[in-house]
This record gives sequence, structure tokens and C-alpha cells, in this order.
Amino acid sequence: MEPDETFDRIFLKRRSVRAYEDRPIPPEIRDRVLAAALRAPTAGNMALYTILEVEDPGLKARLSETCDHQPFIARAPWVLVFLADWARLEGYFRHHRVPEWCEERGEPYLRPRESDLLLAACDALIAAQSAASAAEALGLGTCYIGDILENGELHRELLGLPPRAFPITMLCLGWPTERQRARPQPPRLPRDLVVHRDRYRDYEPGDYDRIYAGEGWPGPRKDEAGDNPGRSLYARKFAADYSLEMRRSVRALLEDWS
Ligand SMILES: Cc1cc2nc3c(=O)[nH]c(=O)nc-3n(C[C@H](O)[C@H](O)[C@H](O)COP(=O)(O)O)c2cc1C
Repeated sequence: MEPDETFDRIFLKRRSVRAYEDRPIPPEIRDRVLAAALRAPTAGNMALYTILEVEDPGLKARLSETCDHQPFIARAPWVLVFLADWARLEGYFRHHRVPEWCEERGEPYLRPRESDLLLAACDALIAAQSAASAAEALGLGTCYIGDILENGELHRELLGLPPRAFPITMLCLGWPTERQRARPQPPRLPRDLVVHRDRYRDYEPGDYDRIYAGEGWPGPRKDEAGDNPGRSLYARKFAADYSLEMRRSVRALLEDWS
């Protein structure tokens, strides 16, 4: 197959970008990125998501604090929050008097549940990745912010979210600095550990020695867990304060859905 520079740039040479040149993103570029996001596949073509553009510098600064103190968020020229959104569809149902219709028929009026949230989260994440790939095709750099899952009640208030509009991810976008463009790509797991065929393949002790091994992974921190990489990762990521806050916050947000 012919080498394809665009394919390589968007998919194989990409990296997250956390430092941006101090220049705006022109409206026509934003427009193309949003057009790509809205053209992404969505379950039943119901578009169970909303994209919230964060423009207000004060709000960006606030989010840079509430999303685990990451100052680069405030410096990103463009910030998009992707919501898994059933609020719009519920409004549509009410507008068309579906609850009354259910009552007339003696049927319960169903509300969105966990499965509906998961489907809407699929829509929102697929739209987000289309936006990210489109942005990267146009020369922008992007970085996801998973920490939008923290401080759910506060984010709901800051962003004016109705019940059942769930902030599933956030994307920062901007022109990458020269240094970011030159930054080495982080490694990935060996393909055979990630891609299984037909049935799930159980992992063996030797496989675990190949996970996160080699150059470029964050190594174990001596102060936390000696030289044990598993304990170090557990302490640094899974049992870390931000992760505990994410647990608490998501559980609180899930109350709308159970
Ligand atoms: C769901 C998700 C959440 C992420 N959250 C953050 C974040 O809060 N802050 C950050 O700097 N990077 C975040 N990232 C970026 C990852 O750290 C990055 O993708 C990973 O380290 C691999 O680096 P690469 O994208 O440059 O290959 C997130 C990525 C994903 C997919």
C-alpha cells in the first residue's frame, strides 16, 4: 500500500498536546471540527449528546482547578465538554406529551436508566474522537480531560447542566507549540496483549512482565511502593485522591439514572 502521510499524521504519529501557541483558532476551522463531530455515527441517529463550548476565560480557569488542577486547561484556546445527553430527548418527549399518552394507555412512562446513559456516553465519546481526529487533521493538537468526571455537582452548577446531561469527557484544543510537536510519542502495549482473537485470552505471568515495560512508561516511584511497578501504579492512579474523588462524583451523578 502507498504510504499515506495524512493517515500517519492523524493516527500513527499523533500525541496528546498540552501546550498551545498563543493564537486563536479561526471560526472556519472550528466549524469544520464541529461538522466532523456532528457527522459521527450515533445510536439510532438520535444524537444522544451535546457539545458545550467553553468560551468564558473565568470558567476555563475554574475548570482547570476543578479538573484536578491542570493549569493548561485555562490556556487552551478552545475547550469542548461532551455531554451524554438525555435531557433533550426527555424534553422532546414532554413536548409531544408522551407521559400523558402513556397514562392514557395505562402504561408507565419510562425514564432513562443506566443502559441509556451508556449508549449516550458511546455517542458523546465517538463524537469527541471525531472532533479530535478532525482537529488533528487540520493541524491542531488535542488533549482529553477525564477529570471532568470529578466534582460532578460543582460542574453541573458551573455549566448549568440539567438532570440527565452527564459530562462524560472534555477536550482541549489549540495549535501545538514547537516543543509539543517534537515530544517523543508515549509507548503503547504490545499488540498481542490488546488484540485477542475469537475468545478472550487469559493473561499469564510472563505477559504481566511485558505490560508497561520498557522505555517511556512512567516508572515506579520508590517512595510509594519500592520497586514494585504494580503497587506503584495502583497507588499513583487507581487509589490516588483524584481517582477516589471521581468514584464519589460519578456515584452521585448516577443517582439521576437508577
Ligand atoms: C479518557 C481520557 C482521559 C484523559 N484525561 C487526561 C487528563 O485529565 N489530563 C491529561 O493531561 N491527559 C489526559 N488524557 C490524555 C492521556 O494522558 C494520553 O492519551 C496518554 O498519556 C497517552 O498519551 P498520547 O495521547 O500522547 O499518546 C486522557 C486521555 C483519555 C483517553
